[in-house]
Amino acid sequence: MCAMTNIRINASTRYDVSVGSGASEQAADFIRTALPRVNKVAVVTDSNVDVLHSSAVVSRLADAGLAPVKFAFPAGEKSKNLATYASLIDFLAENRLDRTDIVLALGGGVTGDMAGFAAATYKRGIDFIQMPTTLLAMVDSSVGGKTAVDIAAGKNLVGAFHQPRAVFCDLRFLDTLPDGWRMDGMGEVLKYAVLRDQSLFGKLESAPLAPIGESEIAACIGMKRDIVEADEKESGMRKLLNLGHTFAHAIEKLSGFGISHGRAVATGIAMASRAAAKRGALSGEDCVRIESLVSAMGYDVHVKFAATEIADAMMDDKKVEGESIDLVIPHGIGHCAVCRMPLAEVGKVVADAV
Ligand SMILES: NC(=O)c1ccc[n+]([C@@H]2O[C@H](COP(=O)([O-])OP(=O)(O)OC[C@H]3O[C@@H](n4cnc5c(N)ncnc54)[C@H](O)[C@@H]3O)[C@@H](O)[C@H]2O)c1
Ligand SMILES: [Zn+2]
Repeated sequence: MCAMTNIRINASTRYDVSVGSGASEQAADFIRTALPRVNKVAVVTDSNVDVLHSSAVVSRLADAGLAPVKFAFPAGEKSKNLATYASLIDFLAENRLDRTDIVLALGGGVTGDMAGFAAATYKRGIDFIQMPTTLLAMVDSSVGGKTAVDIAAGKNLVGAFHQPRAVFCDLRFLDTLPDGWRMDGMGEVLKYAVLRDQSLFGKLESAPLAPIGESEIAACIGMKRDIVEADEKESGMRKLLNLGHTFAHAIEKLSGFGISHGRAVATGIAMASRAAAKRGALSGEDCVRIESLVSAMGYDVHVKFAATEIADAMMDDKKVEGESIDLVIPHGIGHCAVCRMPLAEVGKVVADAV
């Protein structure tokens, strides 16, 4: 097996993220050695990943003497709801998983969030493992312990903090990921570069459309680790991870979710940069570099919605706290800060940003 990059996360529980080609092959051994009481492994996956990748994962677990059982649900965000969650919980109960058994989330962020929430709540919490198969899940959702499902009132409104026992980021899964989803994940990679990593930003500038590899994915996970370790429950620093997101949530909503999350984040970063430049917080030169990279990576630099529509949609965002809203503002490439803004100022900021 090839060498892997290992990233240790010191959250309320300590766990390792293994990144590399073939990383998923380590899972059975890990369970056998680190969690010797595990017998049943509930592999949770969606219908697309099921066809492509689940049989290899399931047979490796069985070969190691474990007892895998598989739960597959229809792919897509629309499945990330209480009904699918309830059938998953029923599945765990029917298969008599007990508190020493484990859930393994094999899929993108939808699978990881829902399987993680089931693990957080079944029998008041059992262990789970993340095996992300999308770029977004590798660099973002599989690390940090946020789990959730959507309800009619909004996305991720029912959930729990529950850290995984291990994360296996196998780059081979990305070989089958459609380009549109890869681009979605790249929006989050761009976020990390603007947030904290000038050298990653430079790499993206020199090859904006090239696939990223183990070291870049590991760099993103390392940044997420630093932020999660400093602020596991999102009371302060973790808010930095919302760079571009407050604008993005408005864009996604106004487009009827026709513009995907990662694309909206990239455009939201360009918007945050323009708003920062207008206020003198970011140099004009850095703002142009960010806008040029957003464009070179294939994303929209400007939105086609009116500033007033965006401002109204932002007021509905769950990140609104009382009379103010937190916006993440770039101060330079690799440096950002959370800026608390009175709601009365939002209209003006959005007008500067569009
Ligand atoms: N928990 C967190 O901290 C956090 C952070 C960011 C996003 N999220 C959540 O993540 C979700 C989005 O995740 P996503 O973009 O990974 O979506 P997703 O899980 O729906 O995956 C995207 C699509 O790619 C397919 N797919 C996955 N892996 C594949 C592979 N290797 N080959 C071919 N097809 C593959 C899936 O079937 C799906 O159709 C949202 O629900 C969001 O709320 C959570
Ligand atoms: Zn995001």
